[in-house]
Amino acid sequence: MSWMSEAVGGPPPVYTGGDGYPTVPDPDDPDRMVSAKPANKPFLAHKEYRKKQEGLHNAWLERKKERDAKVARGEAVGPEEQDPTAEEEVGVLGLLKFLLYVAIIFLLIGKFVTGSYFWNYEVGWTQLRAFWPTNDRLLSERVLAEYDGSDPTKPLYLAIDHDVYDVSSNRETYGPGGAYHMMAGVDAARSFATGCFREHRTHDLRGLTESELEAVQHWKKFFAEHKRYFKVGRVLHHPIDPASPTPEHCDANRREPDEIKSGSESRGGPRKGDGAHEEL
Ligand code: HEM
Repeated sequence: MSWMSEAVGGPPPVYTGGDGYPTVPDPDDPDRMVSAKPANKPFLAHKEYRKKQEGLHNAWLERKKERDAKVARGEAVGPEEQDPTAEEEVGVLGLLKFLLYVAIIFLLIGKFVTGSYFWNYEVGWTQLRAFWPTNDRLLSERVLAEYDGSDPTKPLYLAIDHDVYDVSSNRETYGPGGAYHMMAGVDAARSFATGCFREHRTHDLRGLTESELEAVQHWKKFFAEHKRYFKVGRVLHHPIDPASPTPEHCDANRREPDEIKSGSESRGGPRKGDGAHEEL
């Protein structure tokens, strides 16, 4: 009744090896025999290791004591020995290695699960600027104009109905000489609806038809969802004087009767000379 002897604090039972496996002395208590069955092996190996470490540590303590005594007597001593059982510090290199392994595993799992190493976030990961908390900047019209692409060292912005986007990834289209350069550095929301790219470089949407307003929404969505453009913030406009006339349409046929004047300009849209659609 081993549980009884344990309960009353008697000596631990000696293992007799009745399970057919050889018995070995318990590393903690050499008077006690334990089975060397496979299930016990990790435990026994660990105990053995701890015992060996303890022995090494004690020997080191002994040597350290002797060395300290020599130092106290003023005798010459060699360099101080490190504790051979001290846990090795992970260190910065170890941490970097660990992070590298984690990153590689993360990429491989991404490839396996989504078919993309970056979990389908290529644009986000490669354009880290998209993660900067800069999509809530407030820009004045003057500041926005500085980002029209004429300075190649600055990003290229355009605005549509107050929302400002960084379109630097498409300088060919919006930069100087590009087909849609007239939309850069300004909120030309009206021109997105009317196609009057030269005349309607304004955020004034008064008087637009339902379908024209829908066109503005369409383009707003286009920029908001574009993978290579990202939102910078909003532009603060001067208020529009409600008494001021609504901007004239560039196509005389599309003007209100009282807007039509003789000798009016031709249909708007990107034209030669604007650098617009010159390839067409
Ligand atoms: C209301 C009229 C129009 C608006 C608001 C408009 C707007 C735009 C915008 C914003 C882009 C650049 C898209 C991007 O960021 O990738 C673009 C590109 C383009 N548009 Fe238009 N567009 C209009 C009419 C036209 C017309 C009539 C044509 C053809 C005659 C045309 C041909 C093109 C071409 C070829 C491009 C590609 C240009 C390039 O990537 O350099 N567009 N359009």
